[in-house]
Amino acid sequence: MKLLADHATVVVSGTKIASEIGTGRSEVWRLVQQLRDLGVEIGGHPATGYSLTSMPDLLLPDILAPLLKGTIFADHIHHYYKTGSTNNLAMDAAAEGAPEGSVFLAEQQTAGRGRGANQWHSARSTGIYCSIVLRPTMPPADALLLSLVAGLAVREAVQEIDARIHPDLKWPNDVLIGEKKFCGILTEMSAEVTRVRQVVIGIGVNVNQVTFPSDLQATATSLRLATGSEWSRVEFCAALLKALDRGYRTLQQQPREAVLRRFSEHSSSVRGVKVRVDENGGFEGTTEGLDDRGFLQVRTTQGLRTVLSGTVRPI
Ligand code: BTN
Repeated sequence: MKLLADHATVVVSGTKIASEIGTGRSEVWRLVQQLRDLGVEIGGHPATGYSLTSMPDLLLPDILAPLLKGTIFADHIHHYYKTGSTNNLAMDAAAEGAPEGSVFLAEQQTAGRGRGANQWHSARSTGIYCSIVLRPTMPPADALLLSLVAGLAVREAVQEIDARIHPDLKWPNDVLIGEKKFCGILTEMSAEVTRVRQVVIGIGVNVNQVTFPSDLQATATSLRLATGSEWSRVEFCAALLKALDRGYRTLQQQPREAVLRRFSEHSSSVRGVKVRVDENGGFEGTTEGLDDRGFLQVRTTQGLRTVLSGTVRPI
């Protein structure tokens, strides 16, 4: 793939490709077919040689790494055409010692996971399915702040590319345009009581989807649907990882209040909205901002309650 990309739109003979990657011409044919099955547009055939018909918008390490120079991610990008869940890849790799900043990207997930028992719709090469490994020095309760920082980074990346869109953060892990969700974040960690060992932040962004399965149609949107034009996933992914790098560094240098304040500024639901919370049998009330650890507070008839993990729905 890299060989064809380096000679984009030029026809490269099967013999040259075979000798450069140390294999035979029939193996090259098999690999070309495999890439075509994965959606890469390659013209030509064994007799003429092969060429990339257009530069594919794939999240390849060779394409992303130069765009991410100077960030914690640049040297640890892993790309998969198809996997179960990038969060599983990242959790396994982290348990085996993968360094901070390792990024796992997939073109397609066959078992994308959301919060609770939810699935994450992960159609091929339309969204961004990305999981990163962090090793912050912090107590487990502070991991929520990382999730909030990730939401802010998604918002920042969208605004950098199209300032007409104003993404709305929904505590703790969703990013919306209008009333509809285009991004979900699943933060998982392995920790001791006082110390985080590793955190995996999984980010799913609907970028170029034009349709969704019927059960999602009423609640999901994509950047393309919101703007009416196709987005470069490479450009967006690079902007997102750069914003995350900045947000993560800032979190380690600045008081947490700065993060909480920024989150509240960009969330229409964190204060003054009537909600129902599916936690401890469920309760209703009006949102009243975040506490100093980043948990949502809700004013109920029995007093102020802190939401720890439940789903919060406006009513
Ligand atoms: C949610 O909204 O419930 C969270 C969705 C998180 C989806 C992302 S896609 C990349 C990573 N891999 C997964 O299996 N899930 C996260």
